[in-house]
Amino acid sequence: MVLKKEWTTPDRYKKYNDWDTDYIEELITTVTRSPWRLGYHIQPKTGLLNDPNGFSFFNGKWQLFYQAYPIGPVHGVKSWAHLTSDNLIDWKYEGLALEPDTLFDSHGVYSGSALPVNDKLLLAYTGNVRDDNWQRRSYQLGAWMDTTNHITKIDEPLIDHPPVGFSHDFRDPQIIPFNDGYLLIIGAQTTDNKGKALTYTSKDLQHWTLNGELNFTDEPMGYMVECPNLVFSNDKALLIFCPQGLDKSICHYDNIYPNMYIIGDNYDLETNAITNPTELKNLDEGFDVYATQAFNSPDGRVLAVSWIGLPEVNYPTDDYGWAHCLSIIKELIIKDDKLYQLPAKETEALRLNSIKLPESQTTHYDAKTNCYELEIDCHDSEKGQIKLMTQENGENGLSISFDTTCGKMIIDRSHIGNGFAREYGETREFSISQKPLTLQIFVDESLVEVFINDGEQVATARVFPEAEANHTHVTINTDVPSSITYYELRQTNR
Ligand code: FRU
Repeated sequence: MVLKKEWTTPDRYKKYNDWDTDYIEELITTVTRSPWRLGYHIQPKTGLLNDPNGFSFFNGKWQLFYQAYPIGPVHGVKSWAHLTSDNLIDWKYEGLALEPDTLFDSHGVYSGSALPVNDKLLLAYTGNVRDDNWQRRSYQLGAWMDTTNHITKIDEPLIDHPPVGFSHDFRDPQIIPFNDGYLLIIGAQTTDNKGKALTYTSKDLQHWTLNGELNFTDEPMGYMVECPNLVFSNDKALLIFCPQGLDKSICHYDNIYPNMYIIGDNYDLETNAITNPTELKNLDEGFDVYATQAFNSPDGRVLAVSWIGLPEVNYPTDDYGWAHCLSIIKELIIKDDKLYQLPAKETEALRLNSIKLPESQTTHYDAKTNCYELEIDCHDSEKGQIKLMTQENGENGLSISFDTTCGKMIIDRSHIGNGFAREYGETREFSISQKPLTLQIFVDESLVEVFINDGEQVATARVFPEAEANHTHVTINTDVPSSITYYELRQTNR
């Protein structure tokens, strides 16, 4: 079953077409045999998926791309894979959109964003290049996609080198309209290894002028900032980003690298600052969220999608030739200086039927599938535990325990088969509001996304239950009965 264990550098950078068909067929068969394939989340057909890219609305459809290495479950030479949707839940795979086929992106079409301009969609991305001495070069590139999905790469880079004092770890451009021009925000590293975000401005999307370092915190941001995203909600600015090597005393996190955010009163171009910024916060309290991409959608919402996976971490599906998935689409709202993350309202259309579970202190429900949603209102509850994906006898599984009197939640994935990333801990403990708890939990074969107190927090966990424990048992014990609604969800991938 194990396809290929060792991946040499030449393997990873070999052209997709140079792989022999036997290998590709075996890869496809191996993925087909995999447990843990998702029912209603975006996942790669084969190989590895990482960051969401180019999330936008264009040509009457939602457009979404992701970092793809279709040849194996490793970080090889990347392309952008393309998906479209009418409703944010049914996604049509449109194939690879941007492939590494020019001198400016020969070693990977890396992450970036998309912006509709007249009747075309501008794709802005990083071209990753390794020179003869394997030194990295990065170029910020553009391409135009028309309404037939035909893509033309722009010949010359939008930005052809990092500024003086910055290394070639310079990537992930986000372009947004700003004032009467455009703003580009990009992740960067100084030559003395400090993580930064930089901004550029342009009037015509062709000529970009460095505006300098984005001021959003006084704290050091580790050695690299990846995937910065600036969006606006209710007249506040929200900056989402991934600092690598961040000192945990600045903001605690358990994952190898965190995905964080700050909220500010505004973005001020003159001072290049997110004004009056809050402290850093984790975007997700769970185990696996990274590289979240958000955009201001033309319908007025801020929509976001996350990579559910982490760099430099092996996952059990690697043995089956694929890795990772994207989150459900989330709506981000800032209210009273607080960020709320909610499942996009379209997600409700996945519901096939609903069952109100009996209100009792112990509720046990044997679901028919592992693709479902639970809405739980612990009206007066103080303490409780929810177990998902347990064995038939209700043992083991993913445990979500809470205590609203002291405001604490613990998510524990240590009692579920096929543990992984154990060195980063198998539990996540975090504070929740000291008030009656509401939960909206999405379960999908090997993924659990927990939305807490109407989006005050989200906690995401990949879990890989044993085949015989792949039961859909839900056991809820609370001090006081709670109201529980179970929805079976439509499996858009089947
Ligand atoms: C984040 C990241 C980006 C880069 C891409 C490469 O996960 O490292 O900074 O553009 O992945 O796939």
